[in-house]
Formats: sequence, C-alpha cells, structure tokens
Amino acid sequence: MLQKKTVDDLQVTGKRVLVRCDFNVPLQNGVITDDNRITAALPTIEKLRKDGAKIILCSHMGKPKGEPNPELSLAPVAKRLSELLNIEVVFAKDDNVVGEHAKKAVAEMQNGDVVLLENTRFRKEETKNEDTFSKELASLADLYVNDAFGSSHRAHCSTVGVTRFVEQSAVGYLMEKEITFLGNAVNHPVRPFAAILGGSKVSDKINVINHLLEKVDTLIIGGGMAYTFAVAQGGHVGDSLLEADKVAYAKEMIAKAKEKGVAFLLPVDTVIAKEFKNDTEYKTVPTGEIPDGWMGLDIGEKTRALFADAIQDAKTVVWNGPMGVFEFENFAKGTKAVAEAMAALDATTIIGGGDSAAAVNQLGYGDQMTHISTGGGASLEFLEGKELPGVMAVDDK
Ligand code: 3PG
Repeated sequence: MLQKKTVDDLQVTGKRVLVRCDFNVPLQNGVITDDNRITAALPTIEKLRKDGAKIILCSHMGKPKGEPNPELSLAPVAKRLSELLNIEVVFAKDDNVVGEHAKKAVAEMQNGDVVLLENTRFRKEETKNEDTFSKELASLADLYVNDAFGSSHRAHCSTVGVTRFVEQSAVGYLMEKEITFLGNAVNHPVRPFAAILGGSKVSDKINVINHLLEKVDTLIIGGGMAYTFAVAQGGHVGDSLLEADKVAYAKEMIAKAKEKGVAFLLPVDTVIAKEFKNDTEYKTVPTGEIPDGWMGLDIGEKTRALFADAIQDAKTVVWNGPMGVFEFENFAKGTKAVAEAMAALDATTIIGGGDSAAAVNQLGYGDQMTHISTGGGASLEFLEGKELPGVMAVDDK
C-alpha cells in the first residue's frame, strides 16, 4: 500500500495547488500526435476542480537544455487541455516559467480555474534541482501534487525540490494508479507471473532482467537484445544488433534463471533482412544461424507461437519493449503476436510505457490491457526495484 499522501488527503478548497504532470507528448509541426499522457492527467485535475482548488499545472517537454525553445513550448498542451476540460486553460507564456504572466494569471484565479505554466526545462536550474527555481515554483502555490509518473525517476525542481517549500505535498490519481498496478504486479503477483522484455539494448534492461529473475515464473526475451543472448548461447547473428560487452552478462542471466527455476525463453527463429527498412528482402532462419550481410528485425513464426504458448496460463504478465521493428509493417508481426496473446488472456496485463505502450496502442490492443503505463524510463526504473525520487519526496501519510 502506498504510504504517501494522495490528493484525497488534502483540503484544497480555495487553495492554490501546483500540479506536476508529465505532458511530454509527441509533437509534429506543433500538433500533438498522441495525447494519452494528457487524458491520463484529467482525473486529478477534475477532482481538484470539483473541490474548488485553483489549479496551476506544470510539466517539462523534451530536452530544451535550460533555454527557451519555441518548438518545445507547452502552448499546444494548453489548447488540448482546454478542449478536453471544456474550459479556458490559461497559458502563462513566460520564458522564465514563473514570470509576469504566471504571477498575474495566478493572482486572478477563481476556484476551479486552471493555469498551465511554460516548459519547466526552459530554466537551467530545473534538471539540477536548484532551490532558486524550486522556491519560485512553490511561491505560486500553497499545496503541491505530483501526478507525473513518467517523470518521477527524475530528481528535478518540479518533481522533488518544490516539495520542500510548500505547505503539503501529495501524489495524484495517475501516480497512485501507476504505482498500485506496477507495484502489485511485481511485488504481489497472482501467479504464474510472466515478464516479456524486448527493445534494442541489453544495456537498457540489465537491472530489470536481474531484478525480475527474482520475481517471475517465466521470463521471455525478444527484440534486438535477444541477439546478445543468442551469441551467449554460441549462436551467430550476422549483422544484427549485438552488444559484445554484454555477452558475459547474458550468460550470467541464463545461469541465474536456471538456478532460480525460472523458465527463460529466447527466440528460436528470426526474421532477417538485408537492410534496415520495410521494403527489403527478408526471410526466416533459426536464431543463431543468421548469415553475415543479414540482420534480425523480428521474431519468427515458431517463436511467436512459443511465446504465446508460454504465457497461456499466466495470471500476471508485464511487457516492456517491442519484439521487432514494429514501425515497419513487415517486421511488426512479433510485436503484434505478443499484444494479441496478452489481449486474449484472463490475467492482469501490464504494459510498461515507451515503445511498447506506443506499439500496443498503434496496433489497436490498448483497451484490452489491464494497465498501460504512461512512464517510459520511470516504469523501467520501477521494474528494476528502484525508489522513484518524485514519489519519495512527497509527504508521508
Ligand atoms: C519520458 O518521456 O519518459 C518522460 O517524460 C521523461 O522524460 P526525460 O527522459 O526527458 O526526463
């Protein structure tokens, strides 16, 4: 159970509440291409509005490196929020975030009003968690709510520092939901518990593999990182992704799985291609027998069946990382097969954020999963068993 205060523990009527959200959404020419992170923040905002708070939202967007960058302005988010909430969300367009626009807008707020500040990373202090900016943010508000699960692995002013300068702090509903789903899945899973890991690099998932081997009954590895494991088993992977310096680690993990009695599944066949693009020559070969001049871009048909079968009886499944280059139609079958197999289960199905969340939504299985995390790096760190600074900084109950 979460030992932190939540929005339900705060008396917010007439109070100014600073809410840190993760509005780091993909933009193309100023247009938001996926607003899941915005809609995920609505329950907390709506609850605070209903209770008569004055709501000041803040977030980062991209990596502007401490300087204003008009392409990374949160203006499009204010527009989308206004549409979703059906009210005018006032955008405080200060390049220094807590400037004249923000101060004026906050001073004029009525209960239930919503103001959005400019990208917190326009300030160089933000990512260094420097008190100057934390104090400025806190000066706008009485209370603070962190609902930015996706940014909770960052110890920044807007996620950590600010908590020291407000009367009280709490987590929002999204944060609570993410921690409950991911926490229960990993720490109190209904068994059998299976985890599926993919994505390109072993190095990104080292601690996740190690940690999950302590928890799961079945661990399945696909995607680009499977080639390093194939080499660890004595295979040949041609021009596929390979982290030569992680082969020893891969061997260690295979041995650890054996010692722990965890079923450890790797691809048995691979779809290989001549070039890294959709329209190229491709065929399926046994994993570990990839000729030079070819690269693996997806799991093969036998592996798709093997993985689907391995999770058949699972009661909890956590998935992070695609099985192949799903952005290319010809190499999306593996990722699609895993999504399909998970969607058909009578089990708790959790999708770690980032690429796997995008894949599941893009392939149309989003509404058939128990929970899709809004955190990329944050959900990975959670699966590694790490404490998230943005959660730790919030007041205890
Ligand atoms: C994310 O997209 O994972 C979060 O918004 C965090 O972004 P960051 O990696 O730039 O801190």
